[in-house]
Amino acid sequence: MKQSDIGIIGLAVMGENLVLNMAGRGFTVSVYNRTTEKVTRFLEGRAEGKTITGAYSLEELVGQLKRPRMVMMMVKAGAAVDQLIEVLIPLLDKGDILIDGGNSHYPDTMLRTAYVESQGLLYVGTGVSGGEEGALKGPSMMPGGSPAAWPHIRPIFQAICAKVEDGSPCCDWMGKNGTGHFVKMIHNGIEYGDMQIICESYQLMRDLLRMTADEMHDKFREWNDSELNSYLIEITRDILAFKDGDGAPLLDKILDTAGQKGTGKWTVISALDEGAPLTLIGEAVFSRSLSAMKDERVAASKAYISSRPHFSGNKATFADDIRKALYAAKLISYAQGFELMRRAAKSNGWSLNYGRIALIWRGGCIIRSVFLGKIKEAFDRNPALSNLLLDPYFKRTLEELVPAWRRVVSAAVTHGIPVPALSSALSYFDGYTSEFLPANLLQAQRDYFGAHTFERTDAPRGQFFHVNWTGEG
Ligand code: ATR
Repeated sequence: MKQSDIGIIGLAVMGENLVLNMAGRGFTVSVYNRTTEKVTRFLEGRAEGKTITGAYSLEELVGQLKRPRMVMMMVKAGAAVDQLIEVLIPLLDKGDILIDGGNSHYPDTMLRTAYVESQGLLYVGTGVSGGEEGALKGPSMMPGGSPAAWPHIRPIFQAICAKVEDGSPCCDWMGKNGTGHFVKMIHNGIEYGDMQIICESYQLMRDLLRMTADEMHDKFREWNDSELNSYLIEITRDILAFKDGDGAPLLDKILDTAGQKGTGKWTVISALDEGAPLTLIGEAVFSRSLSAMKDERVAASKAYISSRPHFSGNKATFADDIRKALYAAKLISYAQGFELMRRAAKSNGWSLNYGRIALIWRGGCIIRSVFLGKIKEAFDRNPALSNLLLDPYFKRTLEELVPAWRRVVSAAVTHGIPVPALSSALSYFDGYTSEFLPANLLQAQRDYFGAHTFERTDAPRGQFFHVNWTGEG
């Protein structure tokens, strides 16, 4: 029997779609699923007539593969991956490659890479973004792990991934151990941020400007033809136009409590660990938490009778200000996200290629946008750029957007509309571009109560002073 190019374990929707994508690109694929009825169902259904072979045990799967064998796990993140690794190691030979295509947490992938490598095998943790449709038609893929695995997986991964206009694949090698899953985690964090600032813009239009869903649909359609062109703006446009059976916008009937699976939280925890000011994504995660407290919010809304002043400005101009505020906050969010990547790369000894990361996010994934091309260009101009805000394009654009952004945040505050992400991003911008912050007082307080010492503006950096603030002995 002809041997397969790759084996896939896990026939949930992502696994199935990835297999169909691979088969569609001319690869031969063997498939296995713990509940083996799913193998039969798949072979008799969506896989029929395709270059897909079923296996009913892991031994059988491994026996069907070309060498070096490539086995890709598309299973639930967590214990399932560790269990499978334990069972697969004795079935594989030196140089074979184990790939985890699930949403694993990158510290787990770091440990697993070291472990699997210690057993003579190669390990890859890959981010796969783009949801079900992406998996089927071309996801954005972020593989990292044992470098020797890349030449083997590359022909398959770069064939099945999304492509940008010039044909560049949205998949490239991220680096060693946990980099693939780390970059995917940052992608998801940025996705949280993008969604939050879009939601805040929507709330401003809905509650402050009292725009109808159709009017907002028109705005998002316009915005999608601007520098904001992106998948998330596009789907927001379409969501606003979607009508329920009775002709009313379905959106108005959706309960305002957000769910989350945890990748945004991981991103923020990583930022706290690295000391990176990832304020916008932090606010995005907390906003979901606040939204989930629906009953308490309902009670509090009755306890505090709102006296929100009516908006009296020019609605059309203000709607355009919202677009500018949204774009400005987006620039900040990506600057913060890339800053976190830079810090984590330093502490983990990774060498991440930021321009390449921007490029692979250009297509296939949820945060795909024209704007990522601007980030790619910024890193092409200066690969060692320490913060995107220092790039000439970012600087020019932000200078243009800041006045409108301030007007939007001021109006939101005055009118009692919560804009945690838009406003915290503005505070970050104001802080980042401030020569002087009030941390002199903070250092004085720390020295006062804890003798933590401080540096002086009139002495060399690195020289620390302590003062007896009370004069008491
Ligand atoms: P999801 O929430 O992503 O849909 P899931 O349905 O629990 O997660 O599992 C996704 C895939 O992981 C399925 O193929 C599942 O196999 P089953 O169809 O047998 O449930 C697989 N999976 C989960 N835990 C597993 C384990 N411990 N070993 C092997 N496969 C596992």
